Amino acid sequence: MKVKTLNHYFNEYDMDDASLAKLKVRNVEPAEKNQKASRLVVHTGQDDLLVNRADDLELVESGFQFCYKPALYESSWLFSSLSGFYADQWFTDILRKVKGGKEASVYLCSGGPHVDAEFLAAKVYRPRQFRNLRKDHIYREGRSLLDGDGHPITDDGKLHAIRKKTDYGKELIHSSWIEHEVQAMKVLSAAGADVPRVYTSGGMAILMDFLGDENGGAPALVEVNLSRKAARRLFDQAVHNITLMLKNGVIHGDLSAYNILYWNDTITLIDFPQVVSPGQNNAAKEIFFRDVQRVCEYFQAQGVPGVHSDRLAKDLWRQYGVSQAVLIDPALLDPDDPHDVDFWENKRTEQGLDA
Ligand SMILES: Nc1ncnc2c1ncn2[C@@H]1O[C@H](COP(=O)(O)OP(=O)(O)O)[C@@H](O)[C@H]1O
Ligand SMILES: [Mg+2]
Repeated sequence: MKVKTLNHYFNEYDMDDASLAKLKVRNVEPAEKNQKASRLVVHTGQDDLLVNRADDLELVESGFQFCYKPALYESSWLFSSLSGFYADQWFTDILRKVKGGKEASVYLCSGGPHVDAEFLAAKVYRPRQFRNLRKDHIYREGRSLLDGDGHPITDDGKLHAIRKKTDYGKELIHSSWIEHEVQAMKVLSAAGADVPRVYTSGGMAILMDFLGDENGGAPALVEVNLSRKAARRLFDQAVHNITLMLKNGVIHGDLSAYNILYWNDTITLIDFPQVVSPGQNNAAKEIFFRDVQRVCEYFQAQGVPGVHSDRLAKDLWRQYGVSQAVLIDPALLDPDDPHDVDFWENKRTEQGLDA
């Protein structure tokens, strides 16, 4: 029998539902009869694992218990991500899992005594996992690495850990990714965009407004068929939000009918970790055009007439994007390289510069 700690167990396997299913966890029982169940035997299809439940037990003893019964593989990271919010009374119970996404799982929680909402959504990132899932270097270009307070990381020790890609460094990059999501949501909420309000965040989790009711989360736009009239209205709302985002220097980066929720006849944009800024990322324009295109495709399919994705994206970019876009010093380009020449020509035209 292999003996591992629970953390070891999580790190070793890609803990998404599919890979967990492959592990075939059959049964879990205390390692020694009549003893406090601080160590458990997990019977799997491959090896039997002896895991350490000490973390979980501490939390159970501290009174952190809730209605939702997490699977073995998620309990540890759920506890460690949310126990601080629970202790601070942001929520009183975890009622159910709303969605197990690829990068994060979202849980329905009951709002705590000082929160003016009956329900909250807790978005809890999976450990490590998400780093493989997005080509995140495209989005990270020009973005500072942020600490837990939303400030750029300047500490030499931390920067060293990041450069060396130590476990600690990876953890810092991971939380920076989440911190960008939090910062974008805060900026957009303040600007009046239709995004969930963030209540608190930290470690691997964000607590925000919940869209839906006690039976479950709101569907994404992609799951609903709209009447022509509703589709027209919501298209205008989507364009309004895209415009507001661009004005505020935020490009979603993964916008589509999958990341727009539909609830009470209105839409809410979610899922912001990969946001880019027109002023910091050279690919910002392409990313923006792709966002606009995906949204337009959905509304076209819903029968909204006169939707021209390219025209719309160009108009918006000209009005709000260009002034913020990255300016390249032409001296850095190679006049003999056709790619550089094309690039500069496009920039010039786009920004209305003289030859
Ligand atoms: N605030 C929220 N209220 C209700 N459901 C949510 C909320 N945020 C996310 N969800 C649900 O969880 C899913 C995953 O969340 P999302 O932020 O899109 O993360 P990812 O797609 O990266 O896993 C969404 O598709 C949606 O169904
Ligand atoms: Mg999503």
